[in-house]
Amino acid sequence: MTMRRVLITTLLLHLTLSGTVRYVDPHKEVGGARDGSWDSPFSKISECAVLLAGPGDECQVRAGVYHEDIVVSGVRGLEGNPAVITGYQDERPVIDGTVEVVPVEGKWDTSGDKVFGEIGEAIWQFFIGDTMMTNARWPNARWSDQSVFDGDKWAGVGDGSHIDLANKEGTIENRGSSLQDLKLNLTGAMAVMNIGKFNTFVAEVKHHDPEDNFFTYHHTFGNFEIETGLSRYFLEDKIELLDVEEEWHFDKGSMVLTFIPPVGTDMNTAKLRGKVQTYAINITDSQHLLIKNLDFFATTIKASSSSKTLYVDSLTFDSLKFMYPSYSKRMLNDISLIEWTDISGKFRGKRPDGCCGNFRFINNYFYGSDGLALAYHGDQGSVLKNNFFKHNDWTSNNMVKWGGGMATIYSDSQNDVIERNTLVDNGNGCGIRPGKTSNITLNHITGQCFGFQQNDGAGIQVTVKPQHNVRVENNWVMDSPKYGIRFDGERPNIGEHGNVIGNVVVKTNGVNLKGDYHTAMNNFVVESDRTNSKDSKCSLCMWKTVRRNLGVINQHSTVVNNIADIANGGYMFVREGDKIIQVKVDGKPAVWPIQGSTVANNLVGPDYTDLVTDPDNLDFRPVRNSPADEKKVGPYERSGRFYWIPGRQEEKASSPVPPHLSGSVVARRRRHVMWLNAYQSNFHQVYFGTTSEAVSTATPGSPEYVGDAKGGANVKPIPAKFRVVPGGTYFWRVDAKVGNKIVKGDVWEFTAI
Ligand SMILES: *[C@@H]1O[C@H](CO)[C@@H](O)[C@H](O)[C@H]1NC(C)=O
Ligand SMILES: *[C@@H]1O[C@H](CO)[C@@H](O)[C@H](O)[C@H]1NC(C)=O
Ligand SMILES: *[C@@H]1O[C@H](CO)[C@@H](O)[C@H](O)[C@H]1NC(C)=O
Repeated sequence: MTMRRVLITTLLLHLTLSGTVRYVDPHKEVGGARDGSWDSPFSKISECAVLLAGPGDECQVRAGVYHEDIVVSGVRGLEGNPAVITGYQDERPVIDGTVEVVPVEGKWDTSGDKVFGEIGEAIWQFFIGDTMMTNARWPNARWSDQSVFDGDKWAGVGDGSHIDLANKEGTIENRGSSLQDLKLNLTGAMAVMNIGKFNTFVAEVKHHDPEDNFFTYHHTFGNFEIETGLSRYFLEDKIELLDVEEEWHFDKGSMVLTFIPPVGTDMNTAKLRGKVQTYAINITDSQHLLIKNLDFFATTIKASSSSKTLYVDSLTFDSLKFMYPSYSKRMLNDISLIEWTDISGKFRGKRPDGCCGNFRFINNYFYGSDGLALAYHGDQGSVLKNNFFKHNDWTSNNMVKWGGGMATIYSDSQNDVIERNTLVDNGNGCGIRPGKTSNITLNHITGQCFGFQQNDGAGIQVTVKPQHNVRVENNWVMDSPKYGIRFDGERPNIGEHGNVIGNVVVKTNGVNLKGDYHTAMNNFVVESDRTNSKDSKCSLCMWKTVRRNLGVINQHSTVVNNIADIANGGYMFVREGDKIIQVKVDGKPAVWPIQGSTVANNLVGPDYTDLVTDPDNLDFRPVRNSPADEKKVGPYERSGRFYWIPGRQEEKASSPVPPHLSGSVVARRRRHVMWLNAYQSNFHQVYFGTTSEAVSTATPGSPEYVGDAKGGANVKPIPAKFRVVPGGTYFWRVDAKVGNKIVKGDVWEFTAI
């Protein structure tokens, strides 16, 4: 290459790489017109966002509260050099979808047992201080104590419930007499109905008389039968239902807001806020865009494609925090779907030619969404990594037509990597629903279907087509009334060639892989819910038939190296004449042995606690010289400096093993402590001792200092001088080196038995 060409190339490179950085800071006093420069920053994000065009263009947003509609369109970044909207340095601007709620008359009427007044703008979600209020409802439940998630706070559906498709009318009969006992006229209330397994619908009550124990609604949800025993509903959004603290009602006709404030609220100082915005950021026709370091309150992001040429692709969402991102408009009598966080590279369900929709969701936080937390639709290789999801979706109303249901995280994509996400106590029956050929690795899912308000589902649920080459590997799925990991389908519509490898599934309904040619390898699956009477009470389930559908499945599956307390091939059904009957032995339903062409080296039985170190305290390493150790069965190696712990890495070390405050640590097996490394850190310092004070203040010079864990190691032996004995209580701490900073860890504590 000649000097000249080098020069030109360098120049071109420089031109393409450097974009324009602009600033947003409404608090800065500015003399003349604002132009986005450091000295004269814009006051709104939207003023800056509209100027984003090419690679390296940036909007750096200073701390503050922003309430605006931000449109991003026509952005053309480059791979490795996107256009950017970000919080400035470490600042966390808040994008707020609410407005302050003030009475038009200047003050609220507080003379009665309810507070009310006319307001100027329609709201569909209401906060007093930091607490979200609950739509006036029956049976009562509230957000603040999380009882809104509780399926027992829904009313039962009686056998007289039915759908009249011809007249598009549904009838819900209440189980028991609780509805008629209310003696309220509930015509016009909104009914939230889990009447179609993992489909929950919303309808307006068309007719109800105070003395009726049933109501009718306009049925537009498709053809299915209401499984009355398994169904449930609640009613809300009619003023008659407003009867306890924290409930609220808004009448869009009269614009009157009525509520009963939480006990102890001082109405003179209380800050009242109402949601008036669905999406703060609306992205269209943009490629290679990064949105980073922003907080969202009661609003969220939508990205969509509108034609073969106007599409979104290569969008990255990094370290965003969403509090209450989406909420239904049921209070406005609107039964349409909740407008949730939705990122779509597809156009009318199809991908624009040869592309689109590669998305990255990195290190985000989703809390308190009504409806599912995150949906995305795309093509190749989206990445969902190190995100946190808690207390999302307490109605599971994510469908307008009967179908397969949704999930906390719904992907309609392929070749995704879904890794290191933590899901805690989310309401939907299903946690992660991946698209095709995805790797679902190192996720930690606990309490899925929190409160049990929806039928069907699983922590990780793979529908038929996505099973092909899916890898569900090294996840922990725990404490859920649903399956931990599940593959759907029955003949003739089955999936094949899925892999479920090295997972820990405890206190769920177990692992149930329908289909064929699957591999279930090195999993640990125990303590499944034995109350599920419909199925064969297995933890590791490789069925032969899907109940009465006698099309055989799993004949070519591989089931090796697993630990389970109960494993079988499902209830035994056989054909007898023209009937299919369930086989019973001594009056009890018989089960098939676990199915597969290779079923080997599994350890099945109730003695699994002899095989792994301390499963109640999240230590699943095989016990030395046990069959699990000798035969290399289960998800873990016996020794080593690394112990994989799934889930989101936090700013400091987290997920202690044994868990913080555990009182049941098995002393004779407690030789090590383990933890999850801090985000972006592979160097940790460990302290261990017998008083909280000593451990809390310890430095590398202290006797409590155990040493460093380098290279990402996360296992440290407990020094001999602190040997764990029954009855002893121990304290420990793990500091993380992140960049040049030491991030001090919490003091953890456990007691041994
Ligand atoms: C019940 O309420 C609806 C709507 O508020 C009203 O139109 C209807 O007349 C009421 N019916 C009775 C029996 O009061
Ligand atoms: C987003 O912007 C596009 C085009 O600018 C518009 O058509 C669409 O209605 C907007 N969507 C929302 C949810 O605001
Ligand atoms: C999934 O994991 C397998 C095995 O590690 C790897 O070969 C494959 O490329 C991964 N797929 C994606 C989409 O990353």
